Amino acid sequence: MLKAVNITKSYGGLRVLKGIDLQVEKGGIVSIVGASGAGKSTLLHILGTLDTADGGELFVNDIAVHGLKNSNDLARFRNKNIGFIFQFHNLLPEFTAIENAAMPGFIAGNRSEAEVKAEAEKLLKRLGLSHRLHHKPGQLSGGEQQRVAVARALINNPSIVFADEPSGNLDSASADALHHLFFELRQEWGQTFVIVTHNIELADMADQKYVIEDGMIL
Ligand SMILES: Nc1ncnc2c1ncn2[C@@H]1O[C@H](COP(=O)(O)OP(=O)(O)OP(=O)(O)O)[C@@H](O)[C@H]1O
Ligand SMILES: [Mg+2]
Repeated sequence: MLKAVNITKSYGGLRVLKGIDLQVEKGGIVSIVGASGAGKSTLLHILGTLDTADGGELFVNDIAVHGLKNSNDLARFRNKNIGFIFQFHNLLPEFTAIENAAMPGFIAGNRSEAEVKAEAEKLLKRLGLSHRLHHKPGQLSGGEQQRVAVARALINNPSIVFADEPSGNLDSASADALHHLFFELRQEWGQTFVIVTHNIELADMADQKYVIEDGMIL
């Protein structure tokens, strides 16, 4: 599903990633842990095609992503194949839960708005938000907002979902619920996840745990 080979990244003289190898099978749940500043978000953004590596190879579904040089091709690839859950969810404040969840589907443009909205509604209901469909982010709790962000990450049926500290802002009950949700989605339709987390319990629940230290996988 995903294969990264010898990924390197520097910011000026600072070598953040010094040759990372990582592999994720379809339906796999992989966790990435490491100290603050170790390079976890940098790596996740590269794996999720939001940023580019200085060197190395990245394959998603056997497509050589490092070879997609045209930014339109890359954007289309990302929209179709990748879901991203950010630490601070980045929901659009002026839009409702349904509209936020539907947004990447509107951008993809291969389904009608009505179809995308119906799919967003289905996902939000699945995530326990049937009573909050028309609320805006400011009217939702932190855990509810994070679940809207999960729906948004899933709307285009991505091959793989990347999550950067998805439960970092949640109380422990909401965090537990979110973590269980990831495993349920894996069981229900084989969803693949790569999750950066400081949550030891979640990291240990994963099929595979990668520890980053000093720019390398331990
Ligand atoms: N755009 C940038 N320009 C310069 N340095 C950067 C940039 N982005 C990140 N860094 C540096 O790269 C290192 C790795 O950052 P990164 O955000 O990947 O860490 P992290 O492991 O996600 O940490 P945290 O757990 O605090 O989120 C840090 O030392 C950071 O200061
Ligand atoms: Mg980070």
